[in-house]
Amino acid sequence: MTEPEFDFLRAFLKARSGLALTPDKQYLAESRLEPVRRHFGLESLAALVAALRAGRDPDLEISVLEAMTINETFFFRDKIPFDLFKEVLLPRYMKARAASKRLRIWCAAASTGQEPYSLAMLLDEARPSLAGWRIEILATDLSKAVIDRAKAGLYTQFEVQRGLPIQLLLKHFTQVGDQWQISPKIREMVSFRTANLIRDFTPFGFFDIIYCRNVLIYFDTATKSAVLQRLAAALAPDGALVLGAAETVLGLTEALVPEPDHRGLYARADAPGLPPVRVAGARHPAFCATPDLLRAST
Ligand SMILES: C[S@@+](CC[C@H](N)C(=O)[O-])C[C@H]1O[C@@H](n2cnc3c(N)ncnc32)[C@H](O)[C@@H]1O
Repeated sequence: MTEPEFDFLRAFLKARSGLALTPDKQYLAESRLEPVRRHFGLESLAALVAALRAGRDPDLEISVLEAMTINETFFFRDKIPFDLFKEVLLPRYMKARAASKRLRIWCAAASTGQEPYSLAMLLDEARPSLAGWRIEILATDLSKAVIDRAKAGLYTQFEVQRGLPIQLLLKHFTQVGDQWQISPKIREMVSFRTANLIRDFTPFGFFDIIYCRNVLIYFDTATKSAVLQRLAAALAPDGALVLGAAETVLGLTEALVPEPDHRGLYARADAPGLPPVRVAGARHPAFCATPDLLRAST
């Protein structure tokens, strides 16, 4: 691939997914795109870039985006965000939403589903205290390929050995050939669909809790700021945003502030109980429950 071809590819990825590929990543791009080239029967990577430029093959575009995303994930990844869910967020919102008994959670870059299913398993543990509650977990990702895998809920031996306690494996999974399938009870707690974080996601409505972990790290500063600003606007006024260990809001948006006692947890800067912060250009619409937009999983 020539330098101008690689530059076009970088601009394409940035515009379509937010992925900011640095100039030193040409070798990585070439090795990841080689299987795509073969699959589409193109004679060279130059031909692949030319086909992208022509913009006539949406399937090729999707395959290129999917080949370039990093889908690394595992059950209860990093532990702390899940301890936070069980010990801080769930008790907090069970109290705050005691009247409506409604809770909306969004995993905004869910990959193959281990993150939303980890939350669903924790909710299942709390089921006795959640009688009469209506709890939605929406799990989205840019990549249809990973969302299809997440929906199937089928994991390899290697995947269930990463982070999943044995008791939860035995309780919620059954062996299917050499794989493990998550139970319908846990599967049905999560709605899956594709969604691109750099596009409009206001139709999803407002959420009490958003997990958006280990995806902002792939974006440049301007894209991180824009996405964080829109995530803040998708939170209920007293909602909580959970970011990955290497991610922060500091220096990126004034619409969100870290919760001092809980690493990785962020609140809206104008949340009730926090001193008001002037947020340039940010509008925070009043919280309102959204219709059952998310019931139909795609
Ligand atoms: C490294 S995985 C993180 C998965 C999970 N949140 C975790 O922390 O284990 C990053 C995911 O972000 C998705 N992704 C990348 N760009 C995206 C975008 N613009 N919108 C939505 N998802 C995106 C990728 O497809 C990938 O599955």
